[in-house]
Amino acid sequence: MELEFIRDMFDGIARRYDLLNRLLSLRQDVHWRRKMVSALNLSQNDAVLDVACGTGDVIIEILKQCNCIQQVVGVDFSLRMLQIARKKLTAVRKGGAVRLIAGNGLHLPFPEKSFTAVTIAFGIRNIVDRKTAIRVFFDCLKPGGILAVLELTTPENRYLQSLYLLYFKRLLPKIGAFFSKHLKAYSYLPESVIGFPGAREFAGIMKEAGFKNIQWRHLTLGAATLFVGYKPTESIAQ
Ligand SMILES: C[S@@+](CC[C@H](N)C(=O)[O-])C[C@H]1O[C@@H](n2cnc3c(N)ncnc32)[C@H](O)[C@@H]1O
Repeated sequence: MELEFIRDMFDGIARRYDLLNRLLSLRQDVHWRRKMVSALNLSQNDAVLDVACGTGDVIIEILKQCNCIQQVVGVDFSLRMLQIARKKLTAVRKGGAVRLIAGNGLHLPFPEKSFTAVTIAFGIRNIVDRKTAIRVFFDCLKPGGILAVLELTTPENRYLQSLYLLYFKRLLPKIGAFFSKHLKAYSYLPESVIGFPGAREFAGIMKEAGFKNIQWRHLTLGAATLFVGYKPTESIAQ
């Protein structure tokens, strides 16, 4: 039910999604994805899974930073978002390194230990059962692999937070609704961001799933937060 609502919502806004991202974040979304991908320290032999890949911007950033990468897989359950990703990827690359798959991030169709890195940008907030999702990502990773989670957050500073919430709750839903013609989507956005756990709590979920060396970094005064964690190498895990 929850999943269907979210999938239909992204299907509904797919056409305007990129434009609204740039507009509502004042282009900071591009900078945030760049930071997330550079935290992966990618090399040619890596295999990356981008969950909730949407219109493919994380994958495009991966290809920018590591053009010869062996394998990149994007998964999303919104077919419209995937259609746009496919078009954008065809424009930037013709190689066979990228695969886009329609699927639910909670039930990934990959054997354990398939990837050296798993990324999810602005997607985990939409997945209600976050603990299961993070465990599923953990299983997909090879020992020593990295998980990077980028998410919209609310600034921790009280004054900044009040200003931010004013923008987020009052202005953003109006701009979003005007451009996307989707009334619910951009009211749901602030609700889902406000409902997202604090950094320490979210890091706790990653720890519970088995991740080590968890770190987080607030970006643009805390409007987004980048979390990274590592799957222990086999000898430590056992
Ligand atoms: C806010 S968009 C982020 C897209 C992209 N990662 C980006 O950086 O712009 C969230 C995406 O998550 C997808 N999504 C949400 N829940 C999902 C789930 N359980 N399984 C797969 N995709 C999901 C939506 O369809 C949507 O494309």
